[in-house]
Amino acid sequence: MMAQPVDMVFDDQEIVKLYREYRPTPPENLISTVVDFVKEKSVEPLQLCVDVGCGSGQNTNMYTNYFQQVIGVDVSQEQVQLATKNCTHHNVIFKEGIAERLPVEDESAELVTSSVAIHWFNLDKFYKEVTRVLKPGGVLACYSYLGCTPIYAGKSYASTILEIGGMLNNYFPEEHKHLWTEYGTLPAFSPEEQMFSARDEKFTVETDSTLDDFLGYISSWSAFIKLRDIEGEAAASRFISESKQKGCNTW
Ligand SMILES: C[S@@+](CC[C@H](N)C(=O)[O-])C[C@H]1O[C@@H](n2cnc3c(N)ncnc32)[C@H](O)[C@@H]1O
Repeated sequence: MMAQPVDMVFDDQEIVKLYREYRPTPPENLISTVVDFVKEKSVEPLQLCVDVGCGSGQNTNMYTNYFQQVIGVDVSQEQVQLATKNCTHHNVIFKEGIAERLPVEDESAELVTSSVAIHWFNLDKFYKEVTRVLKPGGVLACYSYLGCTPIYAGKSYASTILEIGGMLNNYFPEEHKHLWTEYGTLPAFSPEEQMFSARDEKFTVETDSTLDDFLGYISSWSAFIKLRDIEGEAAASRFISESKQKGCNTW
C-alpha cells in the first residue's frame, strides 16, 4: 500500500469487494453526454481518457467504447488489483497513483474524469495535474451521486435512507462537505467557470435490489467504515441490525 494523501478507508479488502458488488455504475446517457461534449472540443478519434479515483473501475470501463485508451488511477493498491482482475476490455489499464501526481504524460488526454471521488482530492494539486495532462480543449468531467432512494411497490422511501444516514451523522468525513452541496462548493477549475449545483434527474441508475443488497450498499459507505473503526465490530453490527429493522418495518 502506498502513502495516502487523505485518511483513506477504501483500501480494506472487504470494503473493496463491497464496493465492486454494491456500488452503482454510472448510466450510459451520462457517459455519452460527457463524450459528446468532449467531441465538440477535440479532434477524433479520441485518444485518451483518464479516470481518477477509479475504485473498482465501474466508471473507467464505461469509456472504453469511445477512447482508444483508458487509464484508471487509484491510490488504493487493492482497488487497482481488483479492477484489473475484473476488467475484460483490451484498451484499459489500471495504475496505482494519486490524483495530485497523475502517472500520465503531459498534454496526452482529451478527458479527465472522476466519479464519486473528487471530494477526496487536494484540489489545488489535482487541478494543476489536470491542466498538465489535458490536451488543449480537453475536458474535466466530475460527477457523483448522493445516497439512493429505495422504491418498493411503486412507493418511494427516501425518508428511510435519511433516517439511516442520520444514525451515522458523526462519522461523515469532512471531505463530504462538497457532496452535501452536490459539488456546488467545489472551487472552480478555471477562472471563467462558474460553479453551481447541477442535479439532473435524467441521469438515474435503477437496480432491482433485495434488502440484503441495500445493507451491502450502506456497508460500503465511508461513514459506516469510520463508525466500525472507531466504535468497533459490535457497534457496526448494531448499526446494520437497526438499518435492517428500519428497512423491514418499511418494506
Ligand atoms: C468513493 S470511491 C469511488 C470509486 C469509483 N470511481 C466509483 O465510481 O465508484 C473513491 C475512490 O477514490 C480513491 N481516492 C481517494 N483519494 C484519492 C487520491 N488522492 N488519489 C487517487 N485516488 C484517490 C479511493 O481509493 C476510492 O477508490
